[in-house]
Amino acid sequence: MKTKIIDIRNLDEQSYSNSIQEAGLLLKTGEVIAFPTETVYGLGGIISSKETIDKIYFVKGRPADNPLIVHCSSPEQLFSLCKSVFPLLELLVRNFMPGPLTIVTKKSPKVADFITSGLDTIALRIPSKIVAIDLINEVGVPIAAPSANLSGKPSPTHAQHVMDDFNGKIPMILDDGDCDIGIESTVILVEENQITLLRPGIIEVSTIEHITNIPVTVSVELTESILSPGMKYRHYSPNAIVRLFYDKESYKEAIQENTLKSMLLIPENSSTSFENASNTFRYSEHNLYALFRLADEQHYSQILLFIDDSTAKKMGLMNRIKKAASK
Ligand code: TXA
Ligand code: MG
Repeated sequence: MKTKIIDIRNLDEQSYSNSIQEAGLLLKTGEVIAFPTETVYGLGGIISSKETIDKIYFVKGRPADNPLIVHCSSPEQLFSLCKSVFPLLELLVRNFMPGPLTIVTKKSPKVADFITSGLDTIALRIPSKIVAIDLINEVGVPIAAPSANLSGKPSPTHAQHVMDDFNGKIPMILDDGDCDIGIESTVILVEENQITLLRPGIIEVSTIEHITNIPVTVSVELTESILSPGMKYRHYSPNAIVRLFYDKESYKEAIQENTLKSMLLIPENSSTSFENASNTFRYSEHNLYALFRLADEQHYSQILLFIDDSTAKKMGLMNRIKKAASK
């Protein structure tokens, strides 16, 4: 199969709408295609076809019991997939969607079990990326989409990352350049009067608490981002060893003593000053995954990553960094 990339940037209105139609047609016939969201690229298929959902798992190499996020284009469409629409759910949807928040809630009985891996809950989100919304509207049904990476690789933030993982395996990639956010959505479990964080992201717990006036339950594992040995899904780590440093002196020492081919990662906007060599890169949520992919491509043996105080407070970013560092 040949993978067609359509760059939707700088298209005139007619060509853009033709591209959405072409992509929509593939989805309507049950194909799986990649499309951009504001967080990362997704590997999407219609929720009305079991064969399509099976295909997503197959192409990605994803364990069958890890459920997908269903992407909707409006609150009404999202609510139609929920068992009940209670005030807290409505408040969260109205305040955070469209945007990088995924809500897990009891599913409507009309949602087929194959979409949720047999769970009685469903993960739902409304992306803010216009092309994603246009695509869902074109198809007329919600689109289930995990991140468009092979299982075990970092999520893709650029169409080329998707191409690297799926060239020849999917018919189309819609290319809208770099994703604005760069890490996956914040995932919360929402019950009548309770919110539990399942995956940290760019939307912080404090923001959710501020809007809802409800304390968000955060497990120790998530706070520490420690991967317990029993944790079910192995997460991506670059082939290089990732070493984390919280103070500048030990960081400088490690750089001086170092004999391996090392990538140096320093927080973007860090007030601490560093010398800049060709192996030094500034990281943020926006480019962390791209840098991990680059480290593998360029065969770095080691990544020395400096964490300053303001970075340490970013739960979504720290969660991804610590996962990468724990082999
Ligand atoms: O930003 C994002 O969320 C991206 C873009 C494409 O939307 N998608 C994404 O999907 O990251 P994925 O499949 O890579 O991650 C979905 C997460 C997984 O951790 C999965 O276990 C969790 O959501 N999830 C899905 N359904 C769930 C459910 N019913 N209960 C608990 N967790 C669920
Ligand atoms: Mg993923």
